[in-house]
Amino acid sequence: MGPLTVPTVPSSPVDKGEPAQGFAPAHRERSTASDVNLAWTLDLGCGRAVSAVGVGQRACGLDIDFQALHDVDWRERPSLVCGRGEQLPFRDCCFGSIVSRVAVPYMRVDETFREMERVLLPGGTVQLSLHPLGMTVRELRGAVRARNLKNTLYRCFIIVNGTCFHLTGRQVSLPFRQQRCEFFQTRTGIARALRARGFCDVKWQRGPREFIVNARKAC
Ligand SMILES: C[S@@+](CC[C@H](N)C(=O)[O-])C[C@H]1O[C@@H](n2cnc3c(N)ncnc32)[C@H](O)[C@@H]1O
Repeated sequence: MGPLTVPTVPSSPVDKGEPAQGFAPAHRERSTASDVNLAWTLDLGCGRAVSAVGVGQRACGLDIDFQALHDVDWRERPSLVCGRGEQLPFRDCCFGSIVSRVAVPYMRVDETFREMERVLLPGGTVQLSLHPLGMTVRELRGAVRARNLKNTLYRCFIIVNGTCFHLTGRQVSLPFRQQRCEFFQTRTGIARALRARGFCDVKWQRGPREFIVNARKAC
């Protein structure tokens, strides 16, 4: 699937139908704090609503689901790209920040973190909300109570996959269902994967159901 060609904000990443125009200061070797603050925000796996819109920031939403992007509220005028988190269709160092709300649990983390590091400016930040084990266990209980065998087996797969990621840093994919690789996350596993890709200042926050990690690309 190619990027949606939406003429939105001037010099947006999807202007003229190209995947990403350089909007980072290419003439300087190092970005400054103001470059990072003024640069674009990427909402990775934005679904039907793009974060960071309406606070004066220029936002670009990316999702694998073309239909979900069609349902985004156009009044906010975000730039939208249909693509995969594991293979971001943007140039290097073009975003000041990346936010992602409960979308990383569906992605191949090693490839996604490599891509996040590539497209972020030095000093750029990430904020990811993630699925703790407790949430998957609650969903598993619900599936068992509902006697939904398919869902029960799928929740078991998520638990096995999350445990595998926690212990080894690797995920497995189902050979069917579009090679799904969903997993639950732990602080240990995510911190290790972020640091391996050059992120620092890894900090945690509690969300209402999920948990949130903040980190920064080293300068
Ligand atoms: C639980 S929804 C969250 C949507 C939105 N961030 C929110 O908070 O409402 C997960 C989203 O991740 C997207 N997604 C799943 N795998 C993806 C991938 N490999 N690359 C990009 N987006 C993906 C899905 O299409 C879906 O829109």
